[in-house]
Amino acid sequence: MGQRTGQHGAIITAVERYLPDRVLTNHDLEKLVDTSDEWIRERTGVVERHILDGQPTSYMAIKVAERIIAARDLDPAEIDLIIVATATPDMLFPSTACLVQHAVRATRAWAYDLSAACTGFIYALVAGAQFIQTGAHRKVLVIGADKMSAITDFTDRSTCILFGDGAGGVLLEPAQTANAGLLDFELRADGAGAGCLSVPAGGSMMPASHETVDQRLHYVQQDGRSVFKFAVARMAEVCATVLERNGLTGADLKLFVPHQANYRIIQAAAQRLKLPAEKVMVNIDRFANTTAATVPIALSEAFQQERLESGDLVLLAGVGGGYTWGSVLLRWENRSDPGNT
Ligand code: UT7
Repeated sequence: MGQRTGQHGAIITAVERYLPDRVLTNHDLEKLVDTSDEWIRERTGVVERHILDGQPTSYMAIKVAERIIAARDLDPAEIDLIIVATATPDMLFPSTACLVQHAVRATRAWAYDLSAACTGFIYALVAGAQFIQTGAHRKVLVIGADKMSAITDFTDRSTCILFGDGAGGVLLEPAQTANAGLLDFELRADGAGAGCLSVPAGGSMMPASHETVDQRLHYVQQDGRSVFKFAVARMAEVCATVLERNGLTGADLKLFVPHQANYRIIQAAAQRLKLPAEKVMVNIDRFANTTAATVPIALSEAFQQERLESGDLVLLAGVGGGYTWGSVLLRWENRSDPGNT
């Protein structure tokens, strides 16, 4: 489906993250619902998560944008486009991306939000790369940001243990060398799964009312077992599709950066790709599921830990509400290398 056809490669020239200060541990949740640290660790891999108090999603997205601007030493007016992937926008409209655009004074940029739940960053990265690959733009900011605590029912033990707040993002720019950056992708959707994972109320189908609030319909509702089965099968499948199409196996990858929804889902994908643990980014223990933010947060940790060198092949993958799912193959290129300054 997605092999590159444009003139220019799109490389990541900066990657940053923001996690709010407050940490909510499994032991803290034991005081709110009938659960245990042991159950949560065994069934999900989560130990703790970060929670944003008193600020909206845009607060975290703006922090990421500011960090990228500083890291790349950019004039914000150079940014052409800002895409924010989020399931927890500040408001139904205007978009969170417009709030980021204004806050960082990206005066020339256009901006939009992208809604694909946990696959949001994967979708947004591919969308943003198209504008670089066609030559239309030279600097595209792609951010995944979610304040899941705003839509989490802290009386429902089957969901409140899963999520956390956070944001991550990248700057995309044209590659100076051939065969660098985003090499291939496979994106999928199946709206038949819409009822398995959703926030039912607050949109035009079920506008906010006393009844919707009383019935707690503004919170995430999920059929955990169905989502789990779907995620295990589809995330591995889409990764295998991208690798096979490029004549690659797991052995060719430097790093696999999967969505962090459940450690068991990550393990299933890693096993299918025959990846040893050291090639798989896992931080679900510290951050839980931050929805559109998991992949860029993990990528930024990998970069900071100096696990990525020019020429390395990196596979990103996500799966979530919609259903949506997808995978992206990247050849990493450090911007400090000759030709990329
Ligand atoms: O990013 C995409 C979004 N979401 C996901 O990817 C989540 C996918 N689903 C999952 O990760 C898992 O289905 C969960 C972690 C949500 C649940 O794990 P599970 O192994 O599928 O458990 P289950 O729902 O089958 O429940 C097993 C038992 C049930 O008790 P009974 O019926 O066996 O007596 C639940 O009531 O565990 C119980 N349970 C809990 N017990 C302690 C459910 N939640 C909890 C809890 N603490 N927090």
